[in-house]
Amino acid sequence: MSSSPHFSVLLPEFLSFFADKTIRGFVDATLGAGGHSAALLQAHPEVNRLVGFDQDPVALSLAKSRLITWESKIDFFKLNFVHMKGSLSAYPVPIDGILLDLGVSSMQLDTASKGFSFSKEGPLDMRMDPSHDLTAEEIVNTWSEQELGKIFREWGEEKQWHTAARILVKVRQEKPLKTTQDLVKALLPALRYRAKKGIHPLTLIFQALRIAVNRELEVLEKILPDALSLLTPGGRLAVITFHSLEDRLVKNFFRFAASDKYETSGIGGMFLDKSPEAHILTRRPLVASEKEINQNARSRSAKLRVIEKI
Ligand SMILES: C[S@@+](CC[C@H](N)C(=O)[O-])C[C@H]1O[C@@H](n2cnc3c(N)ncnc32)[C@H](O)[C@@H]1O
Repeated sequence: MSSSPHFSVLLPEFLSFFADKTIRGFVDATLGAGGHSAALLQAHPEVNRLVGFDQDPVALSLAKSRLITWESKIDFFKLNFVHMKGSLSAYPVPIDGILLDLGVSSMQLDTASKGFSFSKEGPLDMRMDPSHDLTAEEIVNTWSEQELGKIFREWGEEKQWHTAARILVKVRQEKPLKTTQDLVKALLPALRYRAKKGIHPLTLIFQALRIAVNRELEVLEKILPDALSLLTPGGRLAVITFHSLEDRLVKNFFRFAASDKYETSGIGGMFLDKSPEAHILTRRPLVASEKEINQNARSRSAKLRVIEKI
């Protein structure tokens, strides 16, 4: 585990959306190091119960020690937040707020053995939940060229998706890829053009693999309506995203929830009336200030969107 400091992203901005609220129950779906929860509990002594999820047992135990002061008010779940609705459907306290601070934490990124970082030698793992079977190693060594190309294109938005997939399939025939640096070495020559754009050439390939290993977009699509349904009227859902695929999903769901129309699917789709379920509180997403970006480079890509349930 790294000793680098952990920064909770967009913290004052997140708190500002709850400043005028009395909070009875709150769900932190992504505890991480517990930073957002600690700040919320500090600012809202009236909170009766806080529920915290994290699928990474190391993050969960860190959050438990960070939040020890409020231990008696907190229910901890070592669980993927996709199971939130099932776990909380009969929760005895009204839920007035939910936070999703998505993706991996800086601690996970800095832990070489997790394999999330292109700049650290480590196994090709990338599982937030180490009890799951699928690893990045399995994907790069066993998925077909078409499947690899598809995730690099759709989840990496990597222009050279086709070349990257073709190279991987060729390289692994000689020797299976085991480590993050095996992957970097295999693809660096073909993706070097990205270095000119100021990002590491493998950034988007690592992003695509991480999304595939942790089914990140699939669980996000499922959790958004579930989270809204768990809130009490007037309750608020805050979501912090770190890349455009996540942000697009959140933006589109919020628009759908706030709209009085929905579009039927299939050929000849029509717009039908429905009741709006929420008000959008962030017309544009909030982004980190220059000061925050200087302190924590990772906040550069963070976006916060908030809705209020009707
Ligand atoms: C960006 S960090 C959260 C940081 C936290 N807000 C703080 O201030 O310390 C995201 C955390 O959410 C967890 N996580 C991501 N997706 C998850 C999911 N689908 N279910 C449960 N936990 C998840 C990760 O393991 C990680 O610890």
